Amino acid sequence: MQKLKMGIIGAGGIAQDRHIPAYQLISDKVSIEAVCDVNMATAQSVAEKFGIPKVYTDYSELFSEVDAITICTPNKFHAEITIAALEAGVHVLCEKPMAMTTKECEAMIEAANESGKVLSIGYHYRFMKESQAAKKVIVEQEIGEPIVARAQALRRRKVPGWGVFTNKELQGGGSLIDWGCHFLDLSLWLLGNPKPVQVMGKAYNHLSKMPGQVNQWGSFDHETFNVDDHVTAYITFDNGASMLFETSWAANIKEDVEHISISGLQGGIDVFPFELNQAKHGMLLNSQANWIPGDEDPGLIQVRNFANACLGEEELIVKPEEAMQVSQIIDAIYESSQTGQSVKIDNREDFV
Ligand SMILES: NC(=O)c1ccc[n+]([C@@H]2O[C@H](COP(=O)([O-])OP(=O)(O)OC[C@H]3O[C@@H](n4cnc5c(N)ncnc54)[C@H](O)[C@@H]3O)[C@@H](O)[C@H]2O)c1
Repeated sequence: MQKLKMGIIGAGGIAQDRHIPAYQLISDKVSIEAVCDVNMATAQSVAEKFGIPKVYTDYSELFSEVDAITICTPNKFHAEITIAALEAGVHVLCEKPMAMTTKECEAMIEAANESGKVLSIGYHYRFMKESQAAKKVIVEQEIGEPIVARAQALRRRKVPGWGVFTNKELQGGGSLIDWGCHFLDLSLWLLGNPKPVQVMGKAYNHLSKMPGQVNQWGSFDHETFNVDDHVTAYITFDNGASMLFETSWAANIKEDVEHISISGLQGGIDVFPFELNQAKHGMLLNSQANWIPGDEDPGLIQVRNFANACLGEEELIVKPEEAMQVSQIIDAIYESSQTGQSVKIDNREDFV
């Protein structure tokens, strides 16, 4: 079988900790041919560490060597590199969030449609076994039509003090675009990706701007901190469903929370840990999973699905039109927070 020739663009944390090791576990399907980083020393040391033959500092020079790339750069470069790769006939797995704005996402989808190549986004929470179980239960109609989602991705004091996570120019925002996006994506997928139509949101950063903050994940400069550290939102969808959403890097709460629940007409689910809640046989029944199959790393399942989709062997799980809905909601939350008004979302009929 012909192997998929892979290039890695951006050789920092997520490339080294997740994507490169995951591709090396499926070396029967994928061979990593090249790595690119604007920092030559980083690219060279990663190539040496993982035995990658070719090294570049300019991503456009790498395209002729590969069939597919994985983009692990700061968010600002996601759209530019994705579009250039697709135009060069190269499949793309781009880290989350899809891009800085919905407008960029639209251009990425147009490039994918024109090239006929695969474009996917790194929303790996979908590949967690609890998420897979929840999707299966919903698809098999155990909870009927899903109508209300509640999603909370809350960290009490974990502002990432490393890398560029608090750099608005490179990342586009803070807790919402960085971590909350995973919970938006997973909730939307579980709801069946209805189109978002209206959003009311509020983004805060009071805590991280105060001096002398306690922080569990390194240190940051409170004087220059200009991204969100706590966000709340209410989102409605074209099928009548709605979502209550909250995310934080810093909040005065008892403890960290990772919660998604979906309430349907015939039952409900909690995702973490997985639980099915029903009103049945004259009783209120709560069923907890005693065991869920699938102990593989979600990052590995993600790259395998991407590689198989490129090779034409499997349906792509994270579709770009779905990932774009996350960006639509993020844009609308930031806009609503600034204006104090709810924001209506225009959905392009040609995309979904
Ligand atoms: N899926 C997840 O849970 C998850 C977790 C962490 C990070 N991420 C995402 O991965 C991306 C990278 O995050 P990270 O933590 O690895 O950051 P990082 O800062 O550790 O690494 C980014 C690397 O990209 C390089 N780079 C910057 N611009 C470039 C360009 N134009 N061309 C080539 N290389 C370039 C930098 O030199 C750096 O080595 C971000 O989009 C982030 O949101 C996703």
